[in-house]
Amino acid sequence: MSVVTRRVPPGPTGYPLVGVFPKARRDPLGFFGDCARRYGDIVSMRLGAHHVYLLCHPDHVKHVLQDHAHAYAKGPPATRVRSLFGDSLTVIDGERWGQRRRQVQPAFHPGHHAQLAAAVHRATAEMLERWRPLAEGGAVVEMVSEMRRLTQTIIIRACFGEIHPAEVETLRQALDVAVGHVDRRLWSAFGWLELPTLAGIRHGRSLGAIDDFVSRKVREAHRSMPPSGTLLAALLTSPVAAGGKPLSEAELHDELKTILVAGHTTVASALAWVWYVLSGQPDAREQLEAECRAAGSHPPGVDALPRLGYTRRVIEEVLRLYPPTWLTARTPVEDDTLGGYTIPAGTLVLLSPFLTHRHPDIWAAPDRFDPDRFTSERAAARPAFAHFPFGGGPRRCVGSAFATIEMQLIVSAMAQRYRLTVLSSARIVPIAGLTLRPSPSVPIQLQRARAD
Ligand code: HEM
Repeated sequence: MSVVTRRVPPGPTGYPLVGVFPKARRDPLGFFGDCARRYGDIVSMRLGAHHVYLLCHPDHVKHVLQDHAHAYAKGPPATRVRSLFGDSLTVIDGERWGQRRRQVQPAFHPGHHAQLAAAVHRATAEMLERWRPLAEGGAVVEMVSEMRRLTQTIIIRACFGEIHPAEVETLRQALDVAVGHVDRRLWSAFGWLELPTLAGIRHGRSLGAIDDFVSRKVREAHRSMPPSGTLLAALLTSPVAAGGKPLSEAELHDELKTILVAGHTTVASALAWVWYVLSGQPDAREQLEAECRAAGSHPPGVDALPRLGYTRRVIEEVLRLYPPTWLTARTPVEDDTLGGYTIPAGTLVLLSPFLTHRHPDIWAAPDRFDPDRFTSERAAARPAFAHFPFGGGPRRCVGSAFATIEMQLIVSAMAQRYRLTVLSSARIVPIAGLTLRPSPSVPIQLQRARAD
């Protein structure tokens, strides 16, 4: 029997030259969701200059990210985020990536988690104290910016140790401007052009401030060893301890800059979604609060994590519904075959955790919030890559364990101290930028959960 390879999967038609780009940029989530519903698991389309294949089925995701990972490169979309990620792990490919991964990964070894958790505890405790008068005065706090501020402080201290508060503030502001600029231009038709606009100039200045700060820390680290337990110390020593080549100054710089950005934007979005979702789920919120109160220590430490199973399931379910990295891309380096179609070399393959996490053949009532989807029995019954908020295969998120612990510690510490309720008048929608975040804001009323 001969197998007929149909050359092009179904998909939407677009405009001359730009393809579906104008439709996709107006409402990326709505547009790609509609494509998946109409055309199925493999959708083909022209997106600007790229011939794109959108893959939604977990088996296809597994094929690209894991089974045939060697045949897929990160490719051109990475250029739009290059100002933030430089020449780091997230964007490089091939043997260069392999070597860098071996150099960077040991810094995220579980042996470092206790010290990273200390940075989480301190920054969270400071935020909760700052909230005390706000809660007493009935003030409203905005959760997207609060979670951003918290996670920025954590990642800055996790990287460099004790930093003067004024310097943390300056770096935080520079990160906000630099990330905001890239985020806004991600779907711009001229996103790769750096025009001399006022926003472009501010962006350039904030990148300069981030670069100066990181370079200074890297130079200081080469003169005298940075505080032990920091990611900078680990990145300096672990590659050599593992018998490998040390990172050069430029490599260390780009990795730290990437960790600063990737290590807070994602976690901040996820946490903002946690409070938004829980506020509309009173039973789940009560169950989570009760578990956190019963966890023992105040705030819960790393040793309490095994007793925070429901909290973890809530976070996993929120990552399913609102995965911060809602889209990722690959370019096949050679022709590949998938689901009976040829995926030609040089095209663009899009994978969307947002779509796969709501695939109707895999998830019953996919839009419903149900943390118990993540009991070990139910999770084991699903195909691999049905849930992949951290990617998967060899390029799985290097910070996934740290992020998971960080989110559990923050959520449990916050739930022990406050009950958070989103103002009922708030109209909140997901915005698909650099991360998937609630927009325009998540205004929250704080209520003290217990007497301290
Ligand atoms: C909720 C939090 C997070 C989410 C959802 C997330 C998601 C992801 C995803 C989906 C990828 C793979 C992208 C791809 O395959 O194209 C990735 C890679 C990466 N993440 Fe995360 N991430 C999170 C937190 C972090 C943290 C805390 C750090 C560092 C402290 C980090 C650093 C990285 C790096 C360096 C890579 C590149 C890995 C490689 O290409 O080898 N991430 N992340």
